[in-house]
Amino acid sequence: MSRVVAMKRLYDRPPTDLPGTTSGPADPADQARPDKVRSVRIRVKSMAILPNPEFTAHAVAVHPPTPESPHGYHRLIGGSVEPGETHRAAIAREIREELGAELTDEHLLGVVESIFTIRGAPGHEIVFLYAGRLTPPIPPQGTTLTEDDGAQHPVVWRSLNDADEQLPLYPADAARFVHRLPRTDQDRQAEREATVAAYDLDAEAYASGTGAIPEDLLAELDRFAGLVGTGGSVLEIGSGPGRDAALLEARGLAVDRTDITPAFVDRMRAAGHNARVLDPLRDDLGGPYDGAWCDAVLLHLSRPEMAIVLHKLHQAIRPGGHLYAGVKEGDGDGWTRHGNVAGARHFTYWTEPALREVLTAAGWRVDEVHRAPGRRLQETWLNVFCSR
Ligand SMILES: C[S@@+](CC[C@H](N)C(=O)[O-])C[C@H]1O[C@@H](n2cnc3c(N)ncnc32)[C@H](O)[C@@H]1O
Repeated sequence: MSRVVAMKRLYDRPPTDLPGTTSGPADPADQARPDKVRSVRIRVKSMAILPNPEFTAHAVAVHPPTPESPHGYHRLIGGSVEPGETHRAAIAREIREELGAELTDEHLLGVVESIFTIRGAPGHEIVFLYAGRLTPPIPPQGTTLTEDDGAQHPVVWRSLNDADEQLPLYPADAARFVHRLPRTDQDRQAEREATVAAYDLDAEAYASGTGAIPEDLLAELDRFAGLVGTGGSVLEIGSGPGRDAALLEARGLAVDRTDITPAFVDRMRAAGHNARVLDPLRDDLGGPYDGAWCDAVLLHLSRPEMAIVLHKLHQAIRPGGHLYAGVKEGDGDGWTRHGNVAGARHFTYWTEPALREVLTAAGWRVDEVHRAPGRRLQETWLNVFCSR
């Protein structure tokens, strides 16, 4: 056993086993005894907050009950920094040893100090807190972590919202970093990919569940067709199965059918239409068109992406042209499995002032905002008509 490993074993023993501390039932009076507290070794640790791809939960180890946490507790994954090792190297090594995974994109979130009692004995840790991604990732059903003394703990997903949880999280101060965990570009990319994959897998189910256009949406489509005028060209973002494109064409418009989801494009092509895979964020939109129709699509963009896409649409539409977009009203963003698609899809919700602001900033004149009740759910759509 190398010296470093031997020392690590010593440091990793529970605080009750450390020289100079005693084990036994919790005695509040013990904590006030300076000689006992002075004998506690301050331990330096590196631990990680590891969010799932959906950004709804993070991975924690489950520990059995103690007198202080009678139902057990959750602990961040990580461990002690070894002598001569940096805290950054320590978190990578701990994750490798305990989970058999590599930590990538790691970034230091901050440092928390924890002074606590466990099984009646005082403990004191200074913890360097990291966030990052794992390769391979922890599976949705969780996994098991093996400590270097062979102890095993289940690893489960703990909600990012502490209010949803029964067990305490340690180190306790880490909770405030969990609440404001920065979302990386990779996290957003995972959201985008998971959403498109959900549509791709269930394109047929989506098509059969949305064959009939709701009356209120048909009225808006008629209004848009009237504004663009017979013979006008329309860029449709997110045509899906192509229901709205067919209705616009029936009103004399020429529709450029596009979708980011390959299965929708394949379906439209199989039905004899021209259609192309288009990612409105990354691809050239083409144009100039007389109008853009984007029903129930831009709600899958993050707020910064929305600003970019609205600006690109403004460039792709001729002066005097029109934009129609429907998004869901609300605050924040999140995942849902409602509707005709089984997989989770990520949505950004918009308030009317925020929607007006992002449209105006992209150069659009907001002509009308309509509210429409959800087709099945208790929700409200914000449908906007804009002109350039
Ligand atoms: C609710 S469906 C609406 C489809 C069609 N407009 C309709 O009303 O039936 C959402 C659409 O957004 C597309 N989509 C998903 N993520 C997207 C993204 N990041 N950028 C652009 N479109 C996206 C999907 O492929 C799908 O066509």
